[in-house]
Amino acid sequence: MKDVRILVFSGSTRSGSFNTKLAELVAKRVDAAGAQATHLSLADYPMPIYNGDIEADEGVPENAKALKEVMQAHHGVFIASPEYNTSISPLLKNTLDWVSRLSGDDEPPAAAFKNRVFALGAASPGALGGIRGLMGLRTIMEIGYGALVIPEMSTVPGAGSAFEDDGALSDARAAGLLDGMVKRLIDEAALRA
Ligand SMILES: Cc1cc2nc3c(=O)[nH]c(=O)nc-3n(C[C@H](O)[C@H](O)[C@H](O)COP(=O)(O)O)c2cc1C
Repeated sequence: MKDVRILVFSGSTRSGSFNTKLAELVAKRVDAAGAQATHLSLADYPMPIYNGDIEADEGVPENAKALKEVMQAHHGVFIASPEYNTSISPLLKNTLDWVSRLSGDDEPPAAAFKNRVFALGAASPGALGGIRGLMGLRTIMEIGYGALVIPEMSTVPGAGSAFEDDGALSDARAAGLLDGMVKRLIDEAALRA
């Protein structure tokens, strides 16, 4: 396979985060499928809450610039998104909004979201697995940032007992759906490699 690089991150930095577990699992399955996964933590890219005064006075934070560069070094991106009150985490929204403010001289708006492909997933202790938050995230990604997001999504309901000790999903159907999403993400990313 060509050098297909997939970036993976979680919208939670909580210790024991279920979404970080999901991101770790996706990274493993990406590697197992023959592509190259990079798993980063948003804890390593802290940014202030967006405020237009900060942007006007100080510019976009260096960590947003760094994250944009990492995203642009990959052909595909998987985001594991916690669901907070049917929406996405403030950390994830704030991070992506800062990154969306960046575009170089010859780049389109929200450049980090262009020319690569995205996949979304969520893990929640609840019965719906965070699917409602993913609907909102899809709207933000596609309509807000102009990103290409594949239709396949991986949701993990009952996340407190859904992961085996080795990080795999205990439910065979959910595991199969996750692998289907990973395959589609890699196939689409390979077209951009
Ligand atoms: C403010 C808040 C709102 C939440 N709302 C939802 C919700 O709408 N749906 C849901 O499934 N879980 C909800 N939860 C529970 C989260 O899914 C749960 O805390 C989850 O563990 C967060 O993701 P993490 O494990 O990756 O940190 C909420 C949690 C918080 C703190």
